[in-house]
Amino acid sequence: MLTKSRIKGVKHIIVVASGKGGVGKSTVSANLAIMLAKKGYKTALLDADVYGPSIPKMFNLEDQMVDVTVDETGKEFMVPKEKYGVKINSIGFLVPSDKAVIWRGPLAGGALTQLFTQTIWGDIDYMIVDFPPGTGDVQISAIQQFRISGAIIVTTPQVIAVNDARKGAEMFLPENMNVPLFGVVENMAWFTPKQHPEEKYFLFGQGGGLTLAREFSTTLLAQIPLVQEVGETAEKGGNLMDQNNALINEAFDHLADEVVYQLENAPIDEVEHEHENCDREDCEHSGDCTHDCSTCGHNCHH
Ligand SMILES: Nc1ncnc2c1ncn2[C@@H]1O[C@H](COP(=O)(O)OP(=O)(O)OP(=O)(O)O)[C@@H](O)[C@H]1O
Ligand SMILES: [Mg+2]
Repeated sequence: MLTKSRIKGVKHIIVVASGKGGVGKSTVSANLAIMLAKKGYKTALLDADVYGPSIPKMFNLEDQMVDVTVDETGKEFMVPKEKYGVKINSIGFLVPSDKAVIWRGPLAGGALTQLFTQTIWGDIDYMIVDFPPGTGDVQISAIQQFRISGAIIVTTPQVIAVNDARKGAEMFLPENMNVPLFGVVENMAWFTPKQHPEEKYFLFGQGGGLTLAREFSTTLLAQIPLVQEVGETAEKGGNLMDQNNALINEAFDHLADEVVYQLENAPIDEVEHEHENCDREDCEHSGDCTHDCSTCGHNCHH
């Protein structure tokens, strides 16, 4: 049986996925991370889109390159960028964005593993992972390697998007990768003009998110309206913090609360203790150790 590892110091990894491109995975990941940080949680955002990273742009960090530090054994680690209280790493900080597309197959998977394991994340409550579109090797190998607390599926309301999002959701089912599906986010659920915040225009149809959630016996976590400023601010390298749209703020506030609720109410065996060794740096025990493990909080016995 596969043993999935945890990232040192990281309590929960949450992936944001969809079988379909362009539905708003990166928008949801970035704004959810910012909202969790605003609520006081230690938050990280890992841009797993090694083919086309968009997180650096959304945080206006596009021209930044990675900082590297060396530990006492001479091993190199990446230092995450930090903005709005979110610790961020992306392949975009290692490779100029116009070159990122050359990563293919095992190389891409290897690069993503390094982003997970060779970054100094520190203590993190929630790490949000922005997956690339689809159900390719990069996603599968990340899910196989790391213990993921839950997945969020993003879709837009129309049937064709739901069909693709379904493929994304299937990847997490018990018979496949066995990751809890937290639920579905329906993005671009309706259009609301700025001047008429009470009006809703269902440009892409209605009900796709709920249909998908029901099909997988999960929850419709949030419906996010199509709002002009979201697209506009993203183009300029912006996000939730740069616009003051009450509808968007409310939607992400609700989504963040849902995610926290699901994790706090997860059955205890979902966070079962897997470490064989205490990972506390100051632990000098060589025999039985009753320290609380710094990663998962459970007692460590080794
Ligand atoms: N609710 C929204 N209102 C307005 N524009 C939005 C909204 N959500 C996303 N967008 C815009 O739609 C485009 C696609 O969004 P995003 O990059 O988040 O999708 P994605 O699923 O991550 O795409 P990819 O599959 O390419 O990674 C972006 O230009 C983004 O700014
Ligand atoms: Mg994206």
